[in-house]
Amino acid sequence: MMRTRPLKVALLGCGVVGSEVARIMTTHADDLAARIGAPVELAGVAVRRPDKVRAGIPAELLTTDATALVKRGDIDVVVEVIGGIEPARTLITTAFEHGASVVSANKALLAQDGASLYAAAEQHGQDLYYEAAVAGAIPLIRPLRESLAGDKINRVMGIVNGTTNFILDKMDTSGAGYSEALDEATALGYAEADPTADVEAFDAAAKAAILAGIAFHTRVRLDDVYREGMTEVTAADFASAKQMGCTIKLLAICERAADGESVTARVHPAMIPLSHPLASVREAYNAVFVEAEAAGRLMFYGPGAGGSPTASAVLGDIVAVCRNRLNEATGPGESAYTQLPVSPMGDVVTRYHISLDVADKPGVLAQVATVFAEHGVSIDTVRQQGKDGEASLVVVTHRAPDAALSGTVEALRKLDTVRGVASIMRVEGE
Ligand code: NDP
Ligand code: HSE
Repeated sequence: MMRTRPLKVALLGCGVVGSEVARIMTTHADDLAARIGAPVELAGVAVRRPDKVRAGIPAELLTTDATALVKRGDIDVVVEVIGGIEPARTLITTAFEHGASVVSANKALLAQDGASLYAAAEQHGQDLYYEAAVAGAIPLIRPLRESLAGDKINRVMGIVNGTTNFILDKMDTSGAGYSEALDEATALGYAEADPTADVEAFDAAAKAAILAGIAFHTRVRLDDVYREGMTEVTAADFASAKQMGCTIKLLAICERAADGESVTARVHPAMIPLSHPLASVREAYNAVFVEAEAAGRLMFYGPGAGGSPTASAVLGDIVAVCRNRLNEATGPGESAYTQLPVSPMGDVVTRYHISLDVADKPGVLAQVATVFAEHGVSIDTVRQQGKDGEASLVVVTHRAPDAALSGTVEALRKLDTVRGVASIMRVEGE
């Protein structure tokens, strides 16, 4: 039975994502109504600049007063696609207080304040959905929260930022340097005018926090995530990676510790073997590899950004929330019952690729090897190339704790024969 009274949606923000949400809501109105069991009506659109021409949006729906829109009392679903912390946070909690559920794409806010937003939603009996906040169009949050809710997830590793994947892919395939690849990403509209959030990995770290919290049923905030950007990756790093049969990706890695008593979440550039499925993720695509106890290894792949792909995820959430409302129910809330602590980066165990500039004379290799041994870091391979009394030494280690590697590098820097540490990169996915 189709209900005739429409469910009302308030759209906060009508930029790259919001304008596509409005377009799909309009063009697919009949299909959405059939799938939900009631028509869905766009009841208002809050923006900053009301005079800007917005194709397909009736002028009478536009308002600059987002607060008044969420306080109307007749809104069923508030879609927050403004971004940032404020006013988004206050608007979302105000929406709950006034009887609306919320769909958001705001990873920055969810990574910082997810727990309090969930609490506000629960207090007011409303839904909080955010499929679009991680990896754009790729269905990932719902599979983790619902399809895999009966399994135990041990590891989530993925490429969750399209801009940086595009830049690293260009550096790899065309030999371009970082700046040149960034310029191309900007010209094609992938990188924003200020690319800091992407290239310094704040965006990926926010997504890692959200994924770790859901995967391990605990609370992980942005500040808990170890973060290293990709601006220091050089053409020489790619050349070294190639020699090892690897490429370089900016990876978000969330892991349950071997003893199951803690978790870690980190984002940094890493070498991965060309045979690993994530190595073949090209251009601005995202992909996330999930390892679960019963299910085994799952890979989620697709467009991680852009107006239309992100709007697809938002629309999926709108349909889910509307169905819940018609059933007078709510979907899953926060699941943080394990209360597992987040361990520091020093506890993470992985392999390392270290490139050193050293003096090329007798005993140097032995000196360097001694420093590794003194810190309990076992060497897997060493490669040396010498020229005019100087040499480049590339050491690849076996698995070791990050703290031990940091101690090793600190001690190496103090050796007279070590002219410099050219690069340190973790090796993952083996
Ligand atoms: P945009 O900057 O393109 O759009 C933001 C919109 O919010 C604009 O319409 C702007 O109005 C409006 N706005 C800003 N401040 C206010 C305010 N105080 N009151 C009312 N409206 C306001 O952002 P995006 O669409 O790119 O991103 C939106 C959200 O989606 C962010 O959280 C982002 O992280 C997330 N996201 C984006 C993806 C993407 O590919 N772009 C992918 C995945 C998630 P005006 O138009 O007048 O300037
Ligand atoms: N700037 C982000 C990216 C948008 O490049 O992936 C999607 O969150």
